[in-house]
Amino acid sequence: MTIGIPKEVKNNENRVGMTPAGVFELTKHGHIVYVQSNAGEGSGFFDSDYKKAGGLILDTIGQVYGISEMIVKVKEPMPEEYGLVQPDQIIFTYFHFASSEPLTKAMIESKATCIAYETVEDDDGTLPLLTPMSEVAGRMAIQQGAKYLEKPAKGRGVLLGGVPGVAPGKVLILGAGVVGVQAAKMAAGLGAQVTILDINMKRLRYINDVMPPHVITEFSNEFNIRKYIQNHDLIIGGVLLKGAKAPNLITRDMLKEMRPGTVIVDVAVDQGGCVETTRPTTHEDPIYIIDDVVHYSVANMPGAVPYTSTVALTNVTLPYVLKLANLGWANATDKDPALKKGLNIINGEIVYDGIIEAFQDSVFAYKS
Ligand SMILES: NC(=O)c1ccc[n+]([C@@H]2O[C@H](COP(=O)([O-])OP(=O)(O)OC[C@H]3O[C@@H](n4cnc5c(N)ncnc54)[C@H](O)[C@@H]3O)[C@@H](O)[C@H]2O)c1
Repeated sequence: MTIGIPKEVKNNENRVGMTPAGVFELTKHGHIVYVQSNAGEGSGFFDSDYKKAGGLILDTIGQVYGISEMIVKVKEPMPEEYGLVQPDQIIFTYFHFASSEPLTKAMIESKATCIAYETVEDDDGTLPLLTPMSEVAGRMAIQQGAKYLEKPAKGRGVLLGGVPGVAPGKVLILGAGVVGVQAAKMAAGLGAQVTILDINMKRLRYINDVMPPHVITEFSNEFNIRKYIQNHDLIIGGVLLKGAKAPNLITRDMLKEMRPGTVIVDVAVDQGGCVETTRPTTHEDPIYIIDDVVHYSVANMPGAVPYTSTVALTNVTLPYVLKLANLGWANATDKDPALKKGLNIINGEIVYDGIIEAFQDSVFAYKS
């Protein structure tokens, strides 16, 4: 199969859909991989690395889309890419169709087959192509939180690990899922006192078994949250209700109960946030302050560490890319139920229930 790796065009997106290691693996299996010149630069992978791995470098994005049977990328196609997508082409990337009607319409019109990373789902309901980004964001949350706790960054002036003779800082984590566990690990590693809350007892049992004693678990309810926000320095929001907006576990009035300079890193911002005062921010302008509480709520945290994020993402996408390239999308999705769940649009027809529901009126009205 011919596979194309375009350079991402979304603002500030430095990740790339495939590393040179991925190109090596695909070419070893007899496939041809076209890489747009400078596609990997933002992640630290250069054209010479791709060439060495067996890739062929093309100058323009138009050439890459024009020649490839499958496009592998990171973010959804941007409006300037819509016209480049070819009928019957496989596009394998994050789409998040339900949040963009123009994108959905464009992909229907293109008659491409769109397989979305975010809906590839294992039997146990986990989302293997989203997990690595949650792992990155969870670990990064502590790094960012520690930075904004410094006084010049508007925080309380607390060193998370403390020093001999001074107690360590306290970290409260809401949600013991992927983000929560990774955040707890990092915070515990720095020597902070960690409290992690969830409503899922299985997750709390797991944390209790695997974490050191300075990570304590408690059931998540308003009483406990109100109690802990008063004396914790850094609060991490890592709650997820599948397919729904995150619940507002910290309401506006609760900010007054926190100490000035407390830092909230609301990782769940992409689902609306679990703090009432959360609004999305960017890496250029990541924080704002309300009632002396520092809010960090960058919606694409992994974008700040593109090397790590690209490698983490492509580690999990490559086996699926190989399957699609070896077998074609129809056989590959027949043989792999997890990958089948990734099918969102087949040759311009929506096949994923969540998208049909999201656009019952508009897209179908548009199609007819
Ligand atoms: N900002 C970013 O860049 C970024 C990056 C990756 C992930 N995320 C987001 O981070 C959030 C968490 O992702 P995840 O992969 O850890 O999800 P996950 O499903 O692994 O974990 C979510 C946890 O929240 C718990 N939960 C639900 N209701 C709760 C409540 N009332 N109190 C406490 N816990 C509760 C669940 O039981 C679960 O353990 C998601 O919204 C995800 O989209 C954001």
